[in-house]
Order: sequence, then structure tokens, then C-alpha cells
Amino acid sequence: MSFCLDLIAKHRSIRKFKSELVNDDDLNSILEAARRHPSPRNLQPLTITVVKDEELKGRIATLLGDQQHIREAPILLVFSLDLMKALRAVELSGKEPTRISHAILLAGTLSTGIALAWSLLAAESLGYGACGIAVYRRSCEVADLLKLPKYVLPLAGLLVGRPDESPELRPRQPLQALLANDGYGDAEGRAELYASISSDFREKLADIIGKGGFYDEIAWSFTQCLRRQGLLE
Ligand SMILES: Cc1cc2nc3c(=O)[nH]c(=O)nc-3n(C[C@H](O)[C@H](O)[C@H](O)COP(=O)(O)O)c2cc1C
Repeated sequence: MSFCLDLIAKHRSIRKFKSELVNDDDLNSILEAARRHPSPRNLQPLTITVVKDEELKGRIATLLGDQQHIREAPILLVFSLDLMKALRAVELSGKEPTRISHAILLAGTLSTGIALAWSLLAAESLGYGACGIAVYRRSCEVADLLKLPKYVLPLAGLLVGRPDESPELRPRQPLQALLANDGYGDAEGRAELYASISSDFREKLADIIGKGGFYDEIAWSFTQCLRRQGLLE
């Protein structure tokens, strides 16, 4: 198996870290991996904030549901969708920038997610453990803490540190649920297969994506935050 495939096959999110710091060369490699990510039209609409300051990291940990592993990780990288740079660059070239559309938001979100994934793999390739963090649950509060300007929206974090645990691989949907050949096929069967990941997964799904679940809870404040950051009219 290739080194990269082997790395992917072994991935587990790490939530317990040793106190050892991430050295600067390694951090640069992890950031360089994000910088090299492929992006729609090469727009690269993101900014990464490196959070090492204990107090700042602690405040973010508290905001995001009091997640102790955020506090304990030596580094938190915050990946923000950043349309400020591109819009301003258009203005600086004497042209009129676009109005923000759903299309540009989604393209930017894709780009930001891909960059995070590349950093995660880079970190794991260097022997670090990593864990994504849903910063979008309190985007505007995190934006305030990180002093992010208008048109910049923090979406996701990545914890990086030396692993102090070795959890089992977490389950994934079967390939038949993920894969569609030349069409979508039977929707019902696909949903059944998807939910068959585990009984635990099936049970938790409603808490996440059911009525009144996690995404309902954050929907209003996220929309408000998009407006405040100038990303929605
Ligand atoms: C964008 C993103 C946000 C996530 N947010 C959190 C989070 O806030 N807290 C957390 O403990 N794990 C978080 N995770 C980790 C997922 O829960 C984890 O990837 C998933 O359960 C699968 O487990 P695995 O990565 O070990 O395979 C996040 C992952 C991603 C990619």
C-alpha cells in the first residue's frame, strides 16, 4: 500500500495529547500542505490562524462546548473562509467585486475543507495526532476572539499534537452507500445502508440532523453570523 493510502487507512481523530510542543519546522510543513491544496479556480479563499496562546485556546474551548481536548492540544489551527482578500484585490485592480452568492460560499467552504484535510494528513504523516473542530457552531464569537474582519468566517479547527491515546478506527458507511454507478439507484436502500454503520450511529443521527437537533440549534445564529460578516444579505 502507498504511504498516503496507509496513512488514510489508519486515520483516527485524536483527543488526548502529550504536552510536547509542535516544532516550528513541522508546523510549517503542516501549513505548507494547506497552502498547496487544490481550490476552485485556484481562488484559495481562506486564512489559517495558528492559536498557541493558552488563554485564547481556553476561551475557544469553552465557547465550543467546553471541549477539554481543545484546551489540551498544543496547537489549534483555525481555518476561515476568507473572501476579504479576493474582494479587496478585485477592488484594488479598479474593478467591481461580485455580490456574495451561495455558489461562492460553497466553493470557498469546499476549498477551506480541502485545505484542512491536507493539513490533517500532513500532520499525521509527521507522527502527530489531529482532530477537526466544528468552529461553525460559534463562528462569530470565534471571529471576535481572533479579530477576524468582515468577509472572513471561521469554519473549522484542527488540533495538532503528539498523540497520547490510540483509539480504534471509527466506522464508516459501506462503499455501496457511498458509491453510485451511473445514477443514484434506490434512495431508500441507500439510506438504510448508510444508517447501518452501527446502531449507535443510527441513534445519534437524530440528535444531529433530526428536528431540534444540533444543526437546528445552531441554524439561526449561524445565519446571523453570515449576515454580520457580510456574507449574506
Ligand atoms: C470539520 C470537522 C469538524 C469536527 N468537529 C469536531 C468537534 O468539534 N469536536 C470533536 O471532538 N471532533 C470533531 N470532529 C471529529 C469527528 O467527530 C471525527 O472525524 C468523526 O467522528 C470520525 O472519527 P475519526 O476521525 O476518528 O475517524 C470534526 C471533524 C471534522 C472534519
